[in-house]
Amino acid sequence: MQTLAEMAVEVLTTADGREKTALSRRHAAAWFAAREAGETPLVGSAEPPLRPARPEAPQLLDPRDVPKRKPGTEAGRIAMLHAVAHIELNAVDLHWDIIARFTDTPMPAGFYDDWVKSADEESKHFNLVCDCLERRDAHYGALPAHAGMWRAAEDTAEDLLGRLAVVPMVLEARGLDVTPGMIELFRKSDGPDVVEALETIYAEEVHHVSYGAKWFHFLCGRHEKDPKDAFHELVRRYFKGGTKPPFNEEKRAEAGLPPDFYWPLAEERAG
Ligand SMILES: [Fe+2]
Ligand SMILES: [Fe+2]
Repeated sequence: MQTLAEMAVEVLTTADGREKTALSRRHAAAWFAAREAGETPLVGSAEPPLRPARPEAPQLLDPRDVPKRKPGTEAGRIAMLHAVAHIELNAVDLHWDIIARFTDTPMPAGFYDDWVKSADEESKHFNLVCDCLERRDAHYGALPAHAGMWRAAEDTAEDLLGRLAVVPMVLEARGLDVTPGMIELFRKSDGPDVVEALETIYAEEVHHVSYGAKWFHFLCGRHEKDPKDAFHELVRRYFKGGTKPPFNEEKRAEAGLPPDFYWPLAEERAG
């Protein structure tokens, strides 16, 4: 059996979205089959690329150059779905990247279980959203997408605590804030299939945020750091955009993210 780090690098270096997610799901199934048989496969080590392989389309543009479309139109809703597909594909890579990038830091097997499960779920999310696009005569790659999506990963490539703070605890938590509004939008338009896909995404994303909070607290405990202070310091250092309301306080709480983690950063930003 390949080591987990080798599996991760294989996913990261696969460019096509559907191929990447199929491989990701196969590797996740192999990992969990072994875990259920009472084994912990070797995590090993492998060199992840600085940036994951990406398909030729979509064209990646500076966020300022991505055309804005109105959500009240069919074209606008397709653009929104396309943006979600792009986020999910990045998320697949982000979860495999955290597995391969930080193998020098010894972590319990549960750390890998959590991120393999998350990568598997993101792969499912990408496929669900692509199915919705394809039912609307569109596909992932038909529109331009944001180029900046990997920035947070590059900025925290040498800082596991920083990676946990910025990716699951800021970016994925932001997903919890905005998803209910998108579900409403598609409920009011023509999108029962989209509503179903987004509800799956919404339910599973809570866990990704909670895994982030769990391992962030674990590492703070290992290094005797105050988690709240460490979180503020790392988000200030690596995520200039800060956090911004409105926050989904209920789902954030469910994920183990208390208000005194994110509100002070939002107030600094506003102030
Ligand atoms: Fe997702
Ligand atoms: Fe996620």
